[in-house]
Amino acid sequence: MEILSDLREMRARSRGWRGRGEKVALVPTMGYFHAGHLSLMRYGRRAADRLVVSLFVNAAQFGPAEDLDRYPRDLERDAALAREVGVDVLFTPAAADIYPAGYQTYVTVEELSQGHCGASRPGHFRGVATVVLKLFNQVEPDLAVFGEKDYQQLQVIRQMAADLNVPVTVVGRPIVREADGLALSSRNTYLKGEERASALCLYRAINAAREMAAAGEISGEKILAAVRGIITETPLTRLDYAALVDPETLKAAPEINGGTRLLLAVWVGATRLIDNTCLQESLLCCV
Ligand code: PAJ
Repeated sequence: MEILSDLREMRARSRGWRGRGEKVALVPTMGYFHAGHLSLMRYGRRAADRLVVSLFVNAAQFGPAEDLDRYPRDLERDAALAREVGVDVLFTPAAADIYPAGYQTYVTVEELSQGHCGASRPGHFRGVATVVLKLFNQVEPDLAVFGEKDYQQLQVIRQMAADLNVPVTVVGRPIVREADGLALSSRNTYLKGEERASALCLYRAINAAREMAAAGEISGEKILAAVRGIITETPLTRLDYAALVDPETLKAAPEINGGTRLLLAVWVGATRLIDNTCLQESLLCCV
């Protein structure tokens, strides 16, 4: 495995492969790898001839009061894990090369970036869409792999790639969870003491919603009331938002159907966790 930081070298490597007819997959990350990241890498490894994993903690997607400075980092461990999966290039660009002095161009996906995480984190998806387009331009992948864990992000990136005619196939992959149901996240390392147990309220709420849907409940209001109740009764937590949405437009779904998605963000102590689910997994919504 090579570790490349230089932008031109990265593009040259990828163009070399593509020139020989090899298919290139990209998995964008901010590092501190866990089993969720590794599952995306394994998928990319299977689906393409060459696999690039980018590791860049993107300041542009963090708000001024957010955790940029304390975001967990461990390049040595990440490189060892990537090597085990069979990554060809770990791409670690420098912030000064991605956003040089005088940088002023940003990508905004107008509608999908509003609401949900976009409302709680102003400017977040503008930072995400911008860096992901820049990574696409640098690596020129045939395929880019993202997790459904960040469901709104996945939809924002799909829309950005389609709107801007980026010749890449965007693939979404299922959420990887701990044995007890907590969705893996680099931010889980922030959870202290009893917060870890409280964090399970997201998974409990998701399961309750799915059970209601499976039992035939179609009222979004009733399902959301149950979800809110589960969060409220859990110590150390505060609901940021719970929403039932159309899986593509992310517009509110007052009555649920086969594809409806539950999106959830909850503060557990000082840590904001997100999770989501398709309410009727057996239907075609979750292939
Ligand atoms: P990061 O949080 O490092 O996540 C990198 C990728 O891993 C994203 O596609 C995310 O959805 C996926 N992922 C995270 N947790 C997962 C889980 N439990 N199961 C499956 N996939 C999971 O998301 C970002 O970085 C950044 O916003 C980025 C897209 C790299 C742009 O900076």
